[in-house]
Amino acid sequence: MAAFFLVAGVVVVAYLIFHNIFVKGKKCKSNVKLHGKTVIVTGSNTGIGKTTALDLARRGARVILACRNRQKAEAAIAEIKRETGNHQVVFMQLDLGSLKSVRSFAETFLKSEPRLDLLINNAGIFMQGITEDGLGMMFGVNHIGHFLLTNLLLDRLQECGPSRVVNVASLGHNFGQIDFNCLSTHKEMGFGKSDIDTFKIYCNSKLCNVLFTHELAKRLQGTNVTCYSLHPGTIKTELGRYSKSFFLILLNPISWLFFKNPVAGSQTTLHCALQEGLEPLSGRYFSNCTARNVYPKARDDAVAKKLWEVSESLCGLT
Ligand SMILES: NC(=O)c1ccc[n+]([C@@H]2O[C@H](COP(=O)([O-])OP(=O)(O)OC[C@H]3O[C@@H](n4cnc5c(N)ncnc54)[C@H](OP(=O)(O)O)[C@@H]3O)[C@@H](O)[C@H]2O)c1
Ligand SMILES: *[C@@H]1O[C@H](CO)[C@@H](O)[C@H](O)[C@H]1NC(C)=O
Ligand SMILES: *[C@@H]1O[C@H](CO)[C@@H](O)[C@H](O)[C@H]1NC(C)=O
Repeated sequence: MAAFFLVAGVVVVAYLIFHNIFVKGKKCKSNVKLHGKTVIVTGSNTGIGKTTALDLARRGARVILACRNRQKAEAAIAEIKRETGNHQVVFMQLDLGSLKSVRSFAETFLKSEPRLDLLINNAGIFMQGITEDGLGMMFGVNHIGHFLLTNLLLDRLQECGPSRVVNVASLGHNFGQIDFNCLSTHKEMGFGKSDIDTFKIYCNSKLCNVLFTHELAKRLQGTNVTCYSLHPGTIKTELGRYSKSFFLILLNPISWLFFKNPVAGSQTTLHCALQEGLEPLSGRYFSNCTARNVYPKARDDAVAKKLWEVSESLCGLT
């Protein structure tokens, strides 16, 4: 009996040490307050978007929850207001799978909000499908929607500098590739319906996030706007909700032990958004609150430039 408790004790302690070192990750250390500042967080009704919005609200910001579903967003807003006592937390409708919705969001925002200090492009989807505009779902929502949104809001960000754009990408971008031929035939960064194809297309869309950040930083040189991309960690959220993949279902119970919770999962986003003195690292990719080197494919100037131009024409910006 004593041996059993000893073993159990050792297992628990070992797990806690393991969890603290390998799962939890670093915390955002900035104590910066955001009174008088306005921030947008896309996809903030759940997951790490919600914990990010909550942290920014606690720091006093006016927080715009840019979400596609009013009901879910209002529930998150009630929770954020209750937990932070900040009542400057508002919903604005945004469906990133619709260029029309992105344009109408930007129009409403620019008309009603005088400032924009932080744009956090956090929303993401792991699901095959087709957007309202006929684009592949993951390319359309994860990349194109945010590409258009950012471009429409850039002037306001510049007027309010120093300001930042934070793009939530993923470690998965390492497995991604950019195939412009496939894009022109399928309007998606990859095709095929198997679980592995879905994963690849997701990773390709996340590589777009990293390359978009790389090119955006160049275009923003000489302004007071900087931008960053990041991997938030492996987090227990709703991201896998549409997948019937056996692997993901298997992962679900394991995720309680090995995945971060959403508060831990928002730390690198917050670091990129708030940490003082990060400006010289504009365009870089972060994980665990640290700038990382990326593979050449994730900082390829020519591909990043071409992706920008193709994206512009896909959303009618030229
Ligand atoms: N979880 C992880 O382990 C992990 C790892 C690496 C990167 N990431 C990235 O982290 C970000 C946040 O994901 P999460 O894990 O917090 O997932 P989540 O819990 O599924 O949250 C995703 C958010 O994006 C929103 N969204 C999806 N499609 C949208 C659309 N068309 N228009 C507007 N909003 C839309 C969702 O809204 P609805 O609730 O209405 O669907 C939800 O608010 C994503 O960019 C994801 O790729 C996550
Ligand atoms: C994050 O960085 C800290 C400090 O450098 C390190 O101790 C920890 O193992 C890292 N955690 C993860 C999840 O990478
Ligand atoms: C950037 O901000 C500084 C300090 O607020 C300001 O003096 C400068 O004019 C700004 N630069 C641009 C290009 O807006």
